[in-house]
Amino acid sequence: MERVASLDSLRNLCRPAGQEHLLAHWDRLTEPQQKQLASQIDSVDFGLVTGLAAGEGFASEAAEIANRAEPPEAVPLGSHYRGFSPQDALEEGNRIIAAGKVAMILVAGGQGTRLGFDQPKGMFPIGPVSGRTLFEMHVDSLKGAMKRFGVSIPLLIMTSPATDALTRKYFEENDRLGLREDELILFQQGTMPAIDAATGRILMDSPFELALSPDGHGGIVSALVKSGVMETMRSRGIEVLFYAQVDNPLVRACDPILIGYHRLAESQMTTQVVRKRFAKERVGNVVQIDGRTHIIEYSDLPDALAEQTLPDGSLKLWAGNIAVHVFDRAFLEQAACDAEALPFHRALKSVPYVDSEGNRHKPATPNAVKMERFVFDLLPRARRTLVVEGDAAEVFAPVKNAEGSATDTPTTSRQAISKLHGTWLEQAGWKVEEGVQVEIHPLWAWDAVEVRDKIQGQGVVLADTYFT
Ligand code: UD1
Repeated sequence: MERVASLDSLRNLCRPAGQEHLLAHWDRLTEPQQKQLASQIDSVDFGLVTGLAAGEGFASEAAEIANRAEPPEAVPLGSHYRGFSPQDALEEGNRIIAAGKVAMILVAGGQGTRLGFDQPKGMFPIGPVSGRTLFEMHVDSLKGAMKRFGVSIPLLIMTSPATDALTRKYFEENDRLGLREDELILFQQGTMPAIDAATGRILMDSPFELALSPDGHGGIVSALVKSGVMETMRSRGIEVLFYAQVDNPLVRACDPILIGYHRLAESQMTTQVVRKRFAKERVGNVVQIDGRTHIIEYSDLPDALAEQTLPDGSLKLWAGNIAVHVFDRAFLEQAACDAEALPFHRALKSVPYVDSEGNRHKPATPNAVKMERFVFDLLPRARRTLVVEGDAAEVFAPVKNAEGSATDTPTTSRQAISKLHGTWLEQAGWKVEEGVQVEIHPLWAWDAVEVRDKIQGQGVVLADTYFT
């Protein structure tokens, strides 16, 4: 009886949306398989999928708006902003962090395909001397902030179905990397089905599984609400969320200057940028269009626009997205209530599928549309935004590509960490021998100033050294 009732209710969901083929194999499925299929069908927003299949709800084509893109009005590196100095920002940031009103978010739902690592990317060893994982680098930086500000700062990690179980296991087996139970919150993002590009029908990965993939880092907005994490943050008095990607080990957890500027400017969403090294660098372009801040992906910006220069030869669209953002919690809550706050981006992909007769297809050419939301599309929705320039050498060393690629490899990232930490030692009067790797644990010293306070006299680092 129960099975029939459930099949009926599933039909009622699928049929009006023209997706009844999802139940084509139902009678041949085992009970656990039926349960799995039922729960996946239940998670689909059919109204949304129908709209998307009809071409509604997508971000406007970047090419349409990119022609009007101007460089953003950004707080220049180490400079004043509307009368506020970096020192003012630092003091304001220090104050709000020490008051316990800040939490950190790490997005870690991606699969690291380009890196060729088959575990969650956060588990990738990156410390140049220590071999610490990306997760350890972030948690240690956060612990450095907690020590400095004498306050507990919650870490919220967003996983996806592909990374969730292994990420949880990793933190369990490693005693949450020393975080207290209430300091570490893992929550999972949602998924979106791939649809047949010709028919709009949802593709099936097997007779009892839809072809699902993560809904993009923009999925964080609804995932925070659905998981109850947003409510927890509100009840704990968190006002500001510092957001970063797991693949960048140089992120300074809860950077007080960035948070300080965000507060002083009364911004709802603030983003840190670095100067692009060359026109077609594979970073998003932070721009201003019709008075609003936007990010246009490198793949969407026409070459002629990316290559525009100013009379001094520098790039006109110079601001690269490093995906370090600061959000007001209230702004994110508001965005979660607005179904249209985040549009979808589509990607045409080759997605293997099982048809209604049970035949498996492996298309050689793109047959399906995958849909993702990008969190940075919240920028043009915000009433007040702020763009703050950072120094790439201090804040950006992402691990994206497998060893041997030209940029953003484990080697380039390790070199950048060692170079920065070596610079801190040199600024304090020490010398680091050529070719020697150095790494500083954030609990030993969090920045150049703390390194100076820590070491006395003059020294030379002769061999690879981990200051811990
Ligand atoms: C991203 C940005 C790019 C920026 C660059 C900086 C996008 C679309 N592009 O590029 O503008 O210059 O980072 O390093 O974001 N993630 C999830 N869930 C998902 C998809 C991604 O959690 O569904 C996470 C990944 O784990 C990763 C981050 O988001 O931490 C970035 O995703 P990725 O697809 O690797 O973006 P990039 O192409 O590297």
